[in-house]
Amino acid sequence: MNDRVTEASARACANIALAKYWGKADAKRNVPAVPSISLTLDQLVTETRVRFDPALPSDVVRLDGRRATAAEAERVVTMLDRVRRESQLRLSAHVTSHNHFPTAAGLASSASGFAALAAATCAAAGLRFNARRLSALARASSASAARSIYGGFVELPAGSRGDVDLAARQIAPPEHWNLRLVVALTELGEKKVGSTEGMERSRKTSPYYQAWLDQAPKWSRKIKRAIKERDLDTLGSAMEQSTLAFHCCAITSDPPILYWAPATLAALATVRGLRERGVPAWATMDAGPHVKVLCEVGAATRVRQALDRTPGVTRTWVAKPGPDVEVHR
Ligand code: DP6
Repeated sequence: MNDRVTEASARACANIALAKYWGKADAKRNVPAVPSISLTLDQLVTETRVRFDPALPSDVVRLDGRRATAAEAERVVTMLDRVRRESQLRLSAHVTSHNHFPTAAGLASSASGFAALAAATCAAAGLRFNARRLSALARASSASAARSIYGGFVELPAGSRGDVDLAARQIAPPEHWNLRLVVALTELGEKKVGSTEGMERSRKTSPYYQAWLDQAPKWSRKIKRAIKERDLDTLGSAMEQSTLAFHCCAITSDPPILYWAPATLAALATVRGLRERGVPAWATMDAGPHVKVLCEVGAATRVRQALDRTPGVTRTWVAKPGPDVEVHR
């Protein structure tokens, strides 16, 4: 057993799902029921430092300079406990995490957070996990975090009940395709129903949930092929179908979960208008009202200007493909 201070930090980027994950095959082990594909984004970064310290009577968790709430701390401590079991370490930990996002408005991501936490905790505990094992560890806390271990274009396969090792893998590195994702913030404030709760509600109550499970793999396959062939039109149209189908499940849950604001629809109309004028741009939304628009690098300025002029859009910025998680000892 180790009784000296050991510490490490890690830096992970958020990711945006091009093919959405919504629904679990195993809620206890947090195994997704559908395959998902994402793009890791630079700029949206979480930095996390973990220190195992014999002088600490219990774990301390600080997020963005404040003490974590009980619910937040519980998810972090669950990850610490997993790593303590693997490494036979018995010490308490001090965890500090900072989101370096261009704005604090409603985009804070569990993906970058749990990817950075998994990598920093393992390094601090002296575990030399490869990317695959780190991804499986991050997935157990938040499935989208499994994808943030890798840079560029990443897939997380669907799993089945009892799966413990399910991990993401890289489809292509960031330099494969110099795409841009223009983020349009449409509204301030926290999301009303978190994704974990939302997808469980859809599974239990939406009459369209089974149709979503049946169709989602088809969009994933199409998106993966389109990434390999750098075919933005095929990628974009499958991406829009994937996001609208997942929102359809959310909207038809009981009680309904409507993540959109009026400005969400206005931004979608802007994106359609751009395409009608010959600018290839495609939209996706997660468990919130913001709209993220995928386009070629040469179209990014035009797309951003059009979104800036859209009623209800409060802020925009442009992200590009980001790197793997990085660890600093
Ligand atoms: C709509 O990964 O946050 O953003 O595994 O329960 O932590 P948990 O869910 P989470 O869900 C993300 C849902 C989504 C789509 C996606 O990122 O694939």
